[in-house]
Amino acid sequence: MEQPPRANWDNRDHAPVAPNDRAAMLIDASAGWRLSVAPMMDWTDRHCRYFHRLLTRRTRLYTEMVTTGALLHGDVARHLDFDAVEHPLALQLGGSEPADLAACARLGEQWGYDEINLNCGCPSERVRRGAFGACLMAEPELVADCVRAMRNAVSLPVTVKHRIGIDRIESYDFVRDFVGTVASRGGCEVFIVHARNAWLQGISPKQNRELPPLRHDTVRRLRADFPELAFVLNGGVTSNEQIAGQLREFEGVMVGRAAYHDPFALAEWDVRFLGAEVRASAERDGVEDRYVAYMERMAAGGEPWSHASRHMLGLRNATPGARRWRQVWSDHRLHGRSPREVSALARAAAASAPVGDAAEVA
Ligand SMILES: Cc1cc2nc3c(=O)[nH]c(=O)nc-3n(C[C@H](O)[C@H](O)[C@H](O)COP(=O)(O)O)c2cc1C
Repeated sequence: MEQPPRANWDNRDHAPVAPNDRAAMLIDASAGWRLSVAPMMDWTDRHCRYFHRLLTRRTRLYTEMVTTGALLHGDVARHLDFDAVEHPLALQLGGSEPADLAACARLGEQWGYDEINLNCGCPSERVRRGAFGACLMAEPELVADCVRAMRNAVSLPVTVKHRIGIDRIESYDFVRDFVGTVASRGGCEVFIVHARNAWLQGISPKQNRELPPLRHDTVRRLRADFPELAFVLNGGVTSNEQIAGQLREFEGVMVGRAAYHDPFALAEWDVRFLGAEVRASAERDGVEDRYVAYMERMAAGGEPWSHASRHMLGLRNATPGARRWRQVWSDHRLHGRSPREVSALARAAAASAPVGDAAEVA
């Protein structure tokens, strides 16, 4: 089906990204599930994904979770528009009604996404009230119906992201039966496993990413029990050394918070893990310049560039002057200035940091 037109500032013909740069970003999108950046609500919006693409061309990217209600009754273009350089790109859906999910998967395919992913891991109360997210793990038959309905509706891969249990259910059989049912009855072949339980009562989503113990062993067992399925390990992977280790055991690794907070680590991924010959970017200044050009285009199109700059704040982590650079980019009094001007101020501030002061590096 023909892709709907996108009335977006960053798809304009005169977008000032060097043509060969853009072509390279488009061509290099081909690495399956080996390495991905996790879906993160309020974080992995399209600006963040564009930023990540400046650092890695081959890593699979995920949208924030989009609920079926928001898509079926809201502004579809606002939720689904993306820039072509974001491929390979998965749309994560939240919902539990097979017909609604099928309709939304169809929209995702029509918009040009590469994968539809169903959220069975979100523990938030709002999601729980809607009876989807992590609480769906208690209903594997329903999840299988949802997956089957989506697979019948689209020709894209349909994957599931889930936890290893809910509440205090720690038995391996629970997650084994969930995966078994969703695979055999729903036809799902790729499971992204956040390797901790979701505790559905009394703690926040943030605590739910920290308090329930991480159990990578459970994912190892799943992999042994279902050799015909692919398992992507997620949860607590914080360094490129850890990624290297996990990729020796799992088909894929998904990184969330560490990718967001220390984005320059992504610049190593294409060559180190994804078979590329050259990096998308060799140094931080170049990444900042290209993202500034993106923000200039946003500003020209009437969208505040601060919606995008916030995703870049970790770029200079652990380098001299990082703190001052970050402070300038975070200064709301500068929001009336152009991104180019703010970038110049931020770099001047970083350069003025006293050499050897550990606080300036943090
Ligand atoms: C701010 C934030 C928002 C998140 N939103 C989502 C979401 O929309 N969908 C989802 O499946 N997981 C979401 N997660 C969970 C992450 O995808 C991931 O499973 C979790 O952070 C564990 O991976 P990590 O230890 O590498 O961060 C979110 C995590 C964070 C930090």
